[in-house]
Amino acid sequence: MNIPVQIEYMLKKLTDSGYEAYLVGGCVRDFLLGKTPDDYDITTSAFPEETMAVFASDKVVPTGLKHGTVTVLYSGMSAEITTYRTETAYTDGRHPDNVEFSRDIRDDLCRRDFTVNAMAMDFDGNIIDLYGGVRDFDNRIIRAVGEPSERFTEDALRILRAFRFASKLGFDIENKTLKAAISLAPRLSLVSRERIFIEFEKLICSMYYAGKILRIMYENKVLDCIFDKPQINIAALDYIDKIPPFAHTRFAALFLYDERINEHVKSLKPSNEFAASVKSIAECRLPSEYDVPTLRRLLSRYKDAAIDRATAENKGEIGNRLFEIFDTEDCFSVSDLDINGTDISNVTSRRGKEIGEALHTLLFAVFDGKVENRKSDLIEYLKRI
Ligand code: CTP
Repeated sequence: MNIPVQIEYMLKKLTDSGYEAYLVGGCVRDFLLGKTPDDYDITTSAFPEETMAVFASDKVVPTGLKHGTVTVLYSGMSAEITTYRTETAYTDGRHPDNVEFSRDIRDDLCRRDFTVNAMAMDFDGNIIDLYGGVRDFDNRIIRAVGEPSERFTEDALRILRAFRFASKLGFDIENKTLKAAISLAPRLSLVSRERIFIEFEKLICSMYYAGKILRIMYENKVLDCIFDKPQINIAALDYIDKIPPFAHTRFAALFLYDERINEHVKSLKPSNEFAASVKSIAECRLPSEYDVPTLRRLLSRYKDAAIDRATAENKGEIGNRLFEIFDTEDCFSVSDLDINGTDISNVTSRRGKEIGEALHTLLFAVFDGKVENRKSDLIEYLKRI
């Protein structure tokens, strides 16, 4: 376990100033996994203005003062430093109505979602674990802190987070926590679609357990609380973990035969690019013949979406053949031909729309292996037809 020196500097500066300071949340989980965290969250007994004062000589950004968060940048690294806080009622099921700062770390840990997310670690690696997070971590269990239905009622996104962590970490969801997640799943309608998308994307991109967790969500109708009458491609649950972890391909696999796949994607408000990728995979139909000219035509029309389609259908062999052609060849459209309209009008009597037709004829001749994509050969071929 190696805490970066910059983060250690921040923790020590706070403790040297008489405050408590711990790493908390995802980065502690990552340390236990032996993984280098992507980002660091620090929780402290210092109130926001006190934190600002401690780091007065460093670069400090008051990112969320109202919620107690300041971001400190030091020597190329940054960390969010948040004051211990309690949260009052969540009337809207998404945000606490009010947060109150505290000097007691117990207040801060008891408001967190799961035991494995409610551990705090000091710069020597000592862990404060009030809810059995280490034990649950060792037993690979996602368990809500305290009463699961209270945690899920406070913030409905946590329902999806439970499935996301189970999928990402390969953990089981403890029984009571799972039951509460399933029965409160209709509350996911309270959560913004953007936040749902972020969690769902992480969930389906797990390396090994997405299929297992999606099956639990499907069988217990949790997916029906996220999508409007989804028609899940159940077969995909068995092979989704073998699909490269790109959300658009996995998403397409899951909804491959659902006529409303585009509506489901768009309902999550993803980027236009993401929605377009899923749409192309959904539209692409694999041919019944897999000869090279046919595959070239398919690639010409759908590009990498054709490869993704084969992957989404679990037709890896065809996917590999498509990939090989796409990777090694360089002529998939008229503009890739080693000849252009001016060349054609220079060497033949074709004019106007005849030129476009000739280019297409040449492209298909290249696909069919009748001519090489070399200017002299293409001209010769044109003169013959
Ligand atoms: N948290 C919570 N309830 C939420 C979101 C977050 O209790 N709905 C708490 C958890 O203790 C969590 C911490 O805030 O560990 C940080 O949240 P976040 O950064 O969203 O998630 P991470 O746990 O850090 O996981 P990841 O970085 O993989 O998103």
